[in-house]
Amino acid sequence: MSDAPEIEWTPDARELADLELLLSGAFSPLTGFLGAADVAAVLARGQLADGTPWPDPITIALPEEAGVGSRVTLTDPEGAALAVLTVAERDGHHASGLVEPVGAPVYGPFARLRRTPAEVRKDLPEEVLGVTLRGPLDSTALAEVAATAEELDATVLLLPLVYGESGPAVVRAALKASAELPGSTVVAVPLAPREDPEIDLELREHVATAYGATEHYAGPAPISIPGPPHRRGLVVFFTGLSGSGKSTVARGLRDALLERGGRTVTYLDGDVVRRLLSKGLTFSREDRDLNIRRIGYVAAEVARHGGLAICAPIAPYADTRFEVREMVESVGADFLLVHVSTPLEECERRDRKGLYAKARAGLIPEFTGISAPYEEPDDADLELDTTGMSVDRAVATVLNHLVTGGWVR
Ligand code: ADX
Repeated sequence: MSDAPEIEWTPDARELADLELLLSGAFSPLTGFLGAADVAAVLARGQLADGTPWPDPITIALPEEAGVGSRVTLTDPEGAALAVLTVAERDGHHASGLVEPVGAPVYGPFARLRRTPAEVRKDLPEEVLGVTLRGPLDSTALAEVAATAEELDATVLLLPLVYGESGPAVVRAALKASAELPGSTVVAVPLAPREDPEIDLELREHVATAYGATEHYAGPAPISIPGPPHRRGLVVFFTGLSGSGKSTVARGLRDALLERGGRTVTYLDGDVVRRLLSKGLTFSREDRDLNIRRIGYVAAEVARHGGLAICAPIAPYADTRFEVREMVESVGADFLLVHVSTPLEECERRDRKGLYAKARAGLIPEFTGISAPYEEPDDADLELDTTGMSVDRAVATVLNHLVTGGWVR
């Protein structure tokens, strides 16, 4: 044991999926995350240092304090320890090193179908047709698989590639296909998709082979129909200075949507959130970021179930707003940033709560626009300067945008 500090770290979803494959042996002969030389070789479509052909750099980003030689406990998002990574090398954010399992792996839905290649291989005959899939097998694909299996005199091994929200649906598709393919087996494999289709296919082949496949059939790409916008989750995120009119327009939008009907609405106003969800937080950058992440978290949960969330905090930092956009889009919902761009002079002239006067007098530190920054968005989906604009007009503008985009009917 080294005397380096103990570090715990929760990798992101893609890294966790890769970690599971490293630990299960599905990425054999890899036993850890790749170092810079191997990554460079893989990117140049070459081989690993030991001569193994490998299609994709398997990397992990770790915090700076995880220096060379440190042992990092990798945990799942709920905090359960999954593995220890011994850092062999660092290259910017990236770290390489071997991973060793800690305790029993933790799985979500269809846990019983997550088996290691070694377990699966010992039950399989010699000839195996491995079928990797990310979506349903249509009747054509099913017939093709059945014919190929018969021709090769092979057993069918269905490998649903589970990753993210659609994971359980892919397993259900595999179970359905399995019912049509006598003697077939289903094993769920957490292989995250790769952007480059060629690399994705090579990795699928590799994993199928690790599971004992002697032949690989790649199931058709899922036709991803995200559903019509009026059924999809939506987060309308207002950002702007205090007094810009965010809350007024956001409330008006909520009321207009409730009057129309057809969508459920959750309203997360800045001031309201700070009275409960974010009570006790200050206006330091750190606390504001936490406040916005909390709002984003709740909004994304609402949107995950197809709901519509309206948020109206100042949210002065571009990075944090972008994080929320990603949180929302990662659950398959849409995110609309509405910049209420009413200029500071107008907000200060209104000064409904008398806060600008106090801030100018130095009574409120870190006041947005006065003594703390507001980063203007360059990714706003809609911009709204409420100077001289009636509330009804402002609300109608946003509502029109939602109708035009098909989010409300
Ligand atoms: S944020 O920066 O974290 O997004 P949030 O929207 O929650 O801010 O809260 C902003 C509201 O808090 C303002 O409308 C104002 O009423 C009040 N407030 C109190 N102190 C400050 C401050 N230092 N800066 C900005 N707003 C403040």
